[in-house]
Amino acid sequence: MSKSFYVTTPIFYVNDAPHIGHAYTEVAADVLTRWHAQRGEGSYLLTGTDEHGEKVLRTALGNNTDPKSWTDKLVTESWLPLLQTIDIDNQDFIRTTEERHKSAVQKFLQQLYDTGFIYQGSFQGNYCVGCEEYKNEGDLIDGSGDYVGERVCAIHSKPVEKLNETNYFFKLSEFQDKLLAHYEANPTFIQPDSARNEVVSFVRSGLSDLSISRSKERFDWGIDIPWDDSHITYVWFDALLNYVTAAGWADDPEKFATLWPADIQVVGKDILRFHAVIWPAMLMAAGLQPPKQVFGHGWLLVGGEKMSKSKLTGIAPNQITDQFGSDAFRYYFMKAIGFGSDGSFSWEDLNARYHAELANGFGNLASRTIAMVNRYFDGVVPAASSLTEADQQVVAVAKAAVSGAETAIDKVQIHEAIAKSWTLVDELNNYITVQEPWVLAKDETKRDRLATVLNTALQGISTLSVLFAPVMPKATKKLYAAICPGQDLAAVKIQLAADWNLVSTGTKLGELEVLFPRVEE
Ligand code: ME8
Ligand code: MG
Repeated sequence: MSKSFYVTTPIFYVNDAPHIGHAYTEVAADVLTRWHAQRGEGSYLLTGTDEHGEKVLRTALGNNTDPKSWTDKLVTESWLPLLQTIDIDNQDFIRTTEERHKSAVQKFLQQLYDTGFIYQGSFQGNYCVGCEEYKNEGDLIDGSGDYVGERVCAIHSKPVEKLNETNYFFKLSEFQDKLLAHYEANPTFIQPDSARNEVVSFVRSGLSDLSISRSKERFDWGIDIPWDDSHITYVWFDALLNYVTAAGWADDPEKFATLWPADIQVVGKDILRFHAVIWPAMLMAAGLQPPKQVFGHGWLLVGGEKMSKSKLTGIAPNQITDQFGSDAFRYYFMKAIGFGSDGSFSWEDLNARYHAELANGFGNLASRTIAMVNRYFDGVVPAASSLTEADQQVVAVAKAAVSGAETAIDKVQIHEAIAKSWTLVDELNNYITVQEPWVLAKDETKRDRLATVLNTALQGISTLSVLFAPVMPKATKKLYAAICPGQDLAAVKIQLAADWNLVSTGTKLGELEVLFPRVEE
């Protein structure tokens, strides 16, 4: 079996239900996965939940239940349904409480212990339970509100806890040079460049060994350390391994060979260091290849701060999809925020773009073109005769849109891929305005010209169906069923989307329901 394009999302803490920040990561990863599938490559998306550790345990206890019941409930009632809400086509979903994960984590730990990468030691530091991480002084800021006079975590705005522990350590410090050499040799390993620069200077400043176990005297919601049952595994060490445990590292070498190394691991910038420093070092220690790329995207902000479960500032994804649908959700977040930058969500902006771009720009282009074929040609695709300069121009824009979008996706510029594709929406709308098929229709001698114009518009719309399939799977499927009845959109390679032969002359068009119905405010 050949290698699939393997995409991962972070596995999310189940301390609460997901908000649009988590949905944002999921959508980006799903668009990339679907895009590669549309190229005819095998592609594979892994997502899941991070269920161990103090943060989840404390939330469960705070809700008067045990952690297993709590995580089961949240996964079933909130995290799995999220995938339906925003139309994620993942190939696997891993929960860190699953046996396949736990046994593989233990195997990995034992291997590193046996090869001398793990030792016993003691440590004291400032722990942020929100991050599940020891913080350096530089990661802390002065508290405000309830915490005036205290030093708090810059991400969670809550005080850190002083911990003094004897436990097991991973020799992270030994990997400083290897990591720097890896960043140097693989300039796109960490993206975007701003993220890369930050990580490089962090690693240059030196690495400390990492505490990877917790004494059961404090809490025991985690995976047992295989050689010492008085300790459990540090939640991040456990969680990062999901990317290989789900891929079959411990028990399915054939599957593992088709997936690893991952092609892109999409994360928020809050957890970039874990993925770009600790994670590749863990893999190197085990003799495994690092992923090809870690992409740290920006944050959805509320009042200038990261939208957060811990701070209860989240908007539930279905508040948006109930009104606008999953395609609009996906389109909006991928188009409106440069991938890699922070962005703010606003109902006004969503509403304006939905109506201007999706309903009037794209939806209306499709519906009026089909309506004209129905009216003037009884719904049967007319043949094009020789193409004029204006028609050739549409073909050229379509070809440039496809190649521009492809290049943008290879650089993980999802917003740019959509913008390049959109040049064809604009071109087609302009073309129809200029060609005035409704005027041509009044003149029997212009029948051939009318046929050519509508054929050209339909071919262009078929190109758009393919280009937008990864972003708006539902609308494009409906649209393709109307203009290419009986044909399988999933089988059309994106590289061939502008070959101008997807819509066949003589085909009776299908019905098209309204793609983006108007939403009342
Ligand atoms: O960190 N804007 O889980 P987590 C954009 N379990 N993305 C956001 C966001 C926002 N405001 N808020 C959250 C963890 N995210 C660990 C990960 S991986 C081995 C373990 C997204 O529940 C973004 O992807 O805190 C961020 O990195 C992630 O959720 C953090 O989710
Ligand atoms: Mg978090």
